[in-house]
Amino acid sequence: MHKLELDTPSLIIDWDRMQQNIANMQKVADEAGIKLRPHTKTHKTPLISHLQIKAGAKGITVAKLGEAEVMNAGGVDDILVAFPLQGASKLQRLLYLARRAKIRVSLDSRKVAEDISDAAQARGMRIGVYVEVDVGLGRVGAGHHLGARDLVREIVVLPGIEFLGIMTHAGHTYNARTVQEIQQLGREEGEWMVETADLIRADGIEVREVSVGSTPTARFSSQVKGVTEMRPGTYVFYDTTQVLKFACGWDDCAQTVLATVVVKHPDRLIFDCGSKTLSSDGAPNGLYGTVKGYPNLEIWRLSEEHATVRFAGKGPLPEIGDKVEIIPNHACAVMNLHDSFVAVSKDEVIGEFQIQGRGKIR
Ligand SMILES: Cc1ncc(COP(=O)(O)O)c(C=O)c1O
Repeated sequence: MHKLELDTPSLIIDWDRMQQNIANMQKVADEAGIKLRPHTKTHKTPLISHLQIKAGAKGITVAKLGEAEVMNAGGVDDILVAFPLQGASKLQRLLYLARRAKIRVSLDSRKVAEDISDAAQARGMRIGVYVEVDVGLGRVGAGHHLGARDLVREIVVLPGIEFLGIMTHAGHTYNARTVQEIQQLGREEGEWMVETADLIRADGIEVREVSVGSTPTARFSSQVKGVTEMRPGTYVFYDTTQVLKFACGWDDCAQTVLATVVVKHPDRLIFDCGSKTLSSDGAPNGLYGTVKGYPNLEIWRLSEEHATVRFAGKGPLPEIGDKVEIIPNHACAVMNLHDSFVAVSKDEVIGEFQIQGRGKIR
């Protein structure tokens, strides 16, 4: 079946492009001599994790325990849960999972470290831990250099955890405006992490992993000597934001939403996909996705089921009933909204797959 015969809206993954993206990022890691532990929050699908691992990835990263459970049930057994876990219920699930798989977690406080350590020790277990370091995002993370060093000093003695190393996510690069700025932030991400690791080592503490990770900075932070691992995620599909942040070209984007034109007026079109399909996430251009093949169409407003499209300059216009493909702003958020995606190769449908990790908010 040709992809244009699909009902709309449909979430489409171009399998060949995705495989190429997987291979290209693996090459970046291999050439830098470091491990790739992709963040799978982008695809939330064990099958795609397996493709990344087959290509050379050493384990995966997830944001939620629920995603880790789905990935493990799907046969993935080396998982970093990159989130500070709190509460008895989560610790119970963590330890249950850790009996079946190689699980490591990240944290940025003594309290989280102690809770995990206490729970693990009570069951005669030890959980591998990365201390998260903030290199500019201002979200999770102990301060780089002395802040992280001091936290490691405090937690390294806890009996129920094993300190493995440090990690960061340079999400602030999404605010950068030029590729030079991203390069600078990427180098800074790597260098500050390596310097922080060296400070910790000066205390005689082993730091096995120095883990960096974001798609825009991947090709820069990976080059810094002393970095051991990277965890980009969005590269698997890319999206409009990644193009606008210089991480890829339009032809690399593997995820699209197929929609139908349902209204045509002199000043606008309406597509049958809204925020329930594309997510409300914005992009630096202020639009809600990029219409492939129609540079003159701008999705400037979304309601739940409607995309309102204006005309920017002259060019061909689709008719009511025509189908269009939209490259979403944020691939990860879109995967979370759909039950399944359709895989295509050379525009022909090759399968439909459940997005097993969608909606796992705990
Ligand atoms: C902790 C962590 N690591 C890695 C990533 C992957 O970054 P990107 O989405 O830029 O590929 C994210 C993304 O949110 C993250 O939160």
